[in-house]
Amino acid sequence: PQVVFSGIQPTGIPHLGNYLGALREWKRLQDTAHPDTKLLFCIADLHAITVPRPAEELYEHRMHLMAVLRAMGLDENRSTIFFQSAVPYHTDLQWILSCTASMGYLSRMTQWKSKLQLSDNTTMDDPAVKKSLKHGLFSYPILQAADILIHRATHVPVGDDQRQHLEFSRECVTNFNSTYKTDCLVAPQTIVSTSRRIMSLTKPQQKMSKSDPSPKSRILITDSPDEIRKKIRGATTDSLAGVSYDPQTRPGVANLIEILSGFDPERRSPQVLAQQMEEGYKITDLKEAVTKVVCDELAEVRERYQLYVSQNDQLREYAAVGNQKATESAKKTMELVNEAVGLGPLR
Ligand code: TYM
Repeated sequence: PQVVFSGIQPTGIPHLGNYLGALREWKRLQDTAHPDTKLLFCIADLHAITVPRPAEELYEHRMHLMAVLRAMGLDENRSTIFFQSAVPYHTDLQWILSCTASMGYLSRMTQWKSKLQLSDNTTMDDPAVKKSLKHGLFSYPILQAADILIHRATHVPVGDDQRQHLEFSRECVTNFNSTYKTDCLVAPQTIVSTSRRIMSLTKPQQKMSKSDPSPKSRILITDSPDEIRKKIRGATTDSLAGVSYDPQTRPGVANLIEILSGFDPERRSPQVLAQQMEEGYKITDLKEAVTKVVCDELAEVRERYQLYVSQNDQLREYAAVGNQKATESAKKTMELVNEAVGLGPLR
């Protein structure tokens, strides 16, 4: 049977990139998967502390994200929604994987470099690295691999920026299984949604990100229609006449068409949408069309979020159920791994 697994960090309300690149895909898989398929969605709170913040903020973000996932229609009867920190098997496996994972591979990963705002070709010898790189940020992909492998996931739906981490988790499987002559870890497949990389509204050469200091750069999935309209109206485009789809020369316009395509009920591609725009169709028309589809689709999520976010007791109950189920799922793999390594019960 298939096992779908994915995760998201509790670092603020998810934005349109998280929504199109991941969350909506999770919901779609939940609604269409074979009844035997197991689905697990993890609130990656241990990953969130790679950039330390006040504890109160993390408490709040964890709760809010639980409310968002429920508002998205992820249903605890079908999907297991849980907190990474509540299932210590994730970190147990992380240690074991770290003993066969390659430093060289980790040091080539681009995410820690982009988090420290270093260029992709920075090496470990760079003084800026020695000064600011923390071990947790560096070994982040090992924990992510452990998240996936501890549940023996077969399919992992993510946005484009997680592709490299998924390749690394397959590498972890190969390293572990060959070191211990076992097949107890399963190599996961990456599922990338069609809207795999939504760009910032203000700097369309960069991906839309929760860590961008400008709130205008992203639409949160709980934004009001008014906020959505203002942000889209203010989105960076260009001064060329008309609308055409060319991510290289017209990144701002292309991003808006991508978003339109992401929300299109007929699932038309950006290229097709652009071709179908009539003569005289202007960027302001495009912005209006995007505003409409985004507001329409997010209205329900926003409404439900507002309802759930105040129900703390219920959210805690849902979390307890999810944590329990995830613990059971992880425990089985941990036993196999421990046995393969020689850490099982004494013989
Ligand atoms: P995170 O919290 O950064 O993002 C959650 C999901 O949203 C996708 N995403 C995007 N997709 C399209 N366009 C964008 N601009 C955009 N920004 C984000 C991400 O690709 C991701 O799918 N390390 C992970 C969380 C994690 C995880 C895991 C994921 C922890 N353990 C195990 C998969 C499997 C992260 O930081 O995602």
